[in-house]
Amino acid sequence: MQRWTLDIDSPDWKSAPEADAVCTALLAGDLVAIPTETVYGLAADATDGKACARIFQAKGRPQFNPLISHVPSLESAMDHGEFDDRALKLARAFWPGPLTLVVPKKKGSPISDLATAGLETVALRVPKGPVMRFLAEKTGRPLAAPSANTSGRISPTRAEDVIADLEPSLSYVIDAGPCTVGIESTIVGLIDDQPRLLRPGGLTREDIEQVLGTELATRDTSTQPDAPTAPGMLTSHYAPNARLILEAAEASPEDGLLSFGPTSLPGAEAARAEFNLSPTGDLAEAAANLFQALRWLDAHGAAVIRAQIIPNFGLGEAINDRLRRAAAPRP
Ligand code: TXA
Ligand code: MG
Repeated sequence: MQRWTLDIDSPDWKSAPEADAVCTALLAGDLVAIPTETVYGLAADATDGKACARIFQAKGRPQFNPLISHVPSLESAMDHGEFDDRALKLARAFWPGPLTLVVPKKKGSPISDLATAGLETVALRVPKGPVMRFLAEKTGRPLAAPSANTSGRISPTRAEDVIADLEPSLSYVIDAGPCTVGIESTIVGLIDDQPRLLRPGGLTREDIEQVLGTELATRDTSTQPDAPTAPGMLTSHYAPNARLILEAAEASPEDGLLSFGPTSLPGAEAARAEFNLSPTGDLAEAAANLFQALRWLDAHGAAVIRAQIIPNFGLGEAINDRLRRAAAPRP
C-alpha cells in the first residue's frame, strides 16, 4: 500500500504524479481509500463488477447491501439516475455536499449490478470533498465507495484509521487530514411519491424539508436494518469494542464517559476517561468528533462507555442514530 499525503488547500495536488498513479490503479480495478468531507471512502470503479466485488470482500460486507456511487457533478449523476423535480431541487441546493440521493437507475447506466446489489435504484452523491470529485472526473468513472472500515466497525475520519483497519486490501490511501463533517452523508430516497429519510447524516432533515417543502418519512433505524433489501439484518454498526450505554444518568469510575455540553454527569471527574464531544454544545463539532471519541475511549480500555443525552434535532438526529446502532446487540 502507498500513502499519498496532500494539502487540500493548495491546488498543487491535482498535478502531482500520484494523481496519475491513483487513476491508473482505479482503472485497473484496485481499491483506493479516498477522503470526503464526511468520512474516508473505500473506492473502486463502480462500472467494474470485479472491483466492486473487492470492496465487499475487503469490508466483509454482505453483497445485498448496495454501495453509493460518487460522481463529479449533477450532470454526470444524470447519466446514471432518473432525476425528477424533487431530486433536481435537492441536488441543486445541496451538491456538492453530504447528501446521497436514491433514485431510479437509468437504463444504460454502466454502474455494475454489484454496486446497486441488483436493485432498480441507484444511490448517487456529489461529495464536497474535492479529491473524490477530482478522481471521478479524471478517471471518467463513477466511484463506488462505502465507508473505509470493516463492516460493522467505527467509520474512519482519518487516514490512520483506514490504515489500521484495511491496509492489506489497499493499493493507495490518500491522506488529506481529518474529515470536516465526520459523519456519513444523509440518504434520501426518491423512488415513490413519498420522499424518505433512509439514513440521517451530515445534512439535517430540517434543511432538506425546507427545500422540498414537505416532510420526509422516516425509517426507524433502531428496528430496521441499514440495508434496504435485508429484513432481519442486525442493526449493530459503528461498534466500539466497549459496550455502550446510552442516556446515562451518572458516570462510573471504571467506565469511559462520552459527554456533551457544558454540564458533565455526576461523578464525571472520577470516570476512567472522559471525552466531551462539544463542551459548548455545538452539534456540528460533536458530529465531527464522534467516531474519534469512540476510538479514543476504546483505546483507554473501558469495558463500558456511558453516553450523555444528545439533543435529537439538527445533526443530533444522525449522532443519536450512530450511537443507537453502536449500542445495539452484536451479531
Ligand atoms: O458519507 C458517506 O455516505 C460515505 C462516503 C464515503 O461517501 N459512504 C457511506 O457508504 O457511508 P456506506 O456504504 O457505508 O453506506 C451506504 C448506504 C448503505 O446503508 C446502503 O444500504 C445505502 O447507502 N444504499 C445504497 N444504495 C441504495 C439503494 N439503491 N437504495 C437504498 N439504500 C441504498
Ligand atoms: Mg459504513
